[in-house]
Amino acid sequence: MCGIIGIASNKPVSINIINSLKKLEYRGYDSAGLATLHQNTIIEKKCSGRVEELEKILFNSPSNGNLGIGHVRWATHGIPNETNAHPHSSDIVSVVHNGIIENSDELKKKLELKGSKFKSQTDTEVITLMITDLLKNNDPLESVIKTLKQLKGSFALGIIFKNFENYIIGARRGSPLAVGYANNENFLGSDSYALKSMTNKISYLDDGDICLLTKDKIDFYDANKKRINKKIHLLSDDENISSKGDYKNFMSKEIFEQPITAQNCIKEYIDNLKQDINIYNFPIEPNKINKIILIGCGTAYHSCLVAKYWIEELTTIEVEVDIASEFRYRKLKFNKNNLYIFISQSGETADTAAALDICKKNNVKTCSIVNAVESTIARNSDWVLPIHAGPEIGVASTKAFLGQMLVLYILSLKLGHTRKDIDDKSYQHNLKNLKLIPNAIKESLKIESNIQLMAKEFLDAKGSMFLGRGLSFPIALEGALKLKELSYLHAEGYPAGEMKHGPLALIEEGLPVIVIAPEDKYFEKTLSNMQEVIARGGKILFITNQKKVLVNENIRFSIKVPLLDNMLSPILLTIPIQLLAYHVALLKGCDIDKPRNLAKSVTVE
Ligand code: M6R
Repeated sequence: MCGIIGIASNKPVSINIINSLKKLEYRGYDSAGLATLHQNTIIEKKCSGRVEELEKILFNSPSNGNLGIGHVRWATHGIPNETNAHPHSSDIVSVVHNGIIENSDELKKKLELKGSKFKSQTDTEVITLMITDLLKNNDPLESVIKTLKQLKGSFALGIIFKNFENYIIGARRGSPLAVGYANNENFLGSDSYALKSMTNKISYLDDGDICLLTKDKIDFYDANKKRINKKIHLLSDDENISSKGDYKNFMSKEIFEQPITAQNCIKEYIDNLKQDINIYNFPIEPNKINKIILIGCGTAYHSCLVAKYWIEELTTIEVEVDIASEFRYRKLKFNKNNLYIFISQSGETADTAAALDICKKNNVKTCSIVNAVESTIARNSDWVLPIHAGPEIGVASTKAFLGQMLVLYILSLKLGHTRKDIDDKSYQHNLKNLKLIPNAIKESLKIESNIQLMAKEFLDAKGSMFLGRGLSFPIALEGALKLKELSYLHAEGYPAGEMKHGPLALIEEGLPVIVIAPEDKYFEKTLSNMQEVIARGGKILFITNQKKVLVNENIRFSIKVPLLDNMLSPILLTIPIQLLAYHVALLKGCDIDKPRNLAKSVTVE
């Protein structure tokens, strides 16, 4: 989703703006642009498509200036083209914006009545033209503050001004924004990741904050222009992990590094000397937890669904699962003995962050399970359990899903044991099995060549269906999400027992149906549901961990992952569905790391 960069320096900034925009590419975008200030003139360059295009434009016609702003845009208002790309500039102001201005139509009408002329279809241009109008009688900071007061919706902004060669103004409401400090240079960025190659000293703006940034210092203000102070955070150095190495794309790297992801995560949470889980300081005493509510979006939501089964199995705590975009608008009954857990790889997902804010306003205890520990969601929750997966760059979430499941499983085990819902023997047995996971994932990845063959079955398919029961039901949902996200092929995930209640009508001759059937208490039942599909012509692709090979002439392909404890089956069964989506997308020539229309970090609702 959109990304912002701003640099005030004692040397030309355009190359560093381009380099930082490249760091923001992982968020997903469809156009790019930058504006620098040189000899009292705003120089704006924009293009649709990739940052490399912008780089070529600059190569042919360099942009001078020691101060500038840059942007990658993920279209919301108006098609992705050069005119709608950011920055949006008048003669005297240039603005980059993340978020959505909900009352832009109304503001636009008012500005047009005053004679303002709009060039783009965006909501952002109202900000540029409002500030331009206010600058007639106000200084830049006052003009920005007065403009912000009229805006409804969410924003992170970077603004430069023709007659003020020195400074950039940044502002935040609802969309993340950070600043970075260096010698003779200061930075503005929509996340710390974009700033990391330039500095490890970062401050985060909170909602309502405004910053005024020059090359020498950064001042912070609240919405009423009162000076405020901000804490400086020192970032950890995990940059080295964000290159593709020998892999074709980030997604394949991220799939194949999952044995290490699992090992790192387990190492962080399991104390091998004490044979115990290192999770302490629960925000609510475990015996007093009345209910756990798990909240996330997309793949993170699927990890919540898996965890529901684990928490129910390993503890006596009641569990609810919610999609963040639904949770945030419902009439909820909050209870101080409930623990609200937010799952997010990026820690910046707008709906999840908003759901967390609602919990905070209702004074209930919150926990976040995140990959980005410096993110908004991590910073705003009472308790953070990192997944330690390292940067995930591919838009399709793979290793983060694994990390989310692992942390949720570890947390369920710890809760069950601390509350004495499970005894020592079963706790130790589960811990022992958990440590086998990294190797079992390594084994599971060996199925890749079979999956490549299986992927061919999808080339002419009109759609597909993923079926599972119990712990495999969320994996069926995840399989369908991965396939549609990457290969643009329609896919549905269903609890196999639901087929007769509607979806069976979709089955026709040759439709690929992926049946996820581990050797658990549902196995025979899933096989019966599979027979119903076979009887109607569905083409079965079978994924299992069962010891005995199931021979059935109607099964087109059978894929087997190692059999560990049943409870851990979702972790291993995820590997084939990730590889399947990856290989179907590869065969279809899709953009693996940046699927169309999608963004890595969904910072608007
Ligand atoms: O960063 P988050 O985990 O909060 O992101 C949530 C979803 O947007 C994300 O999981 C999305 O569904 C993935 N692209 C799926 O692969």
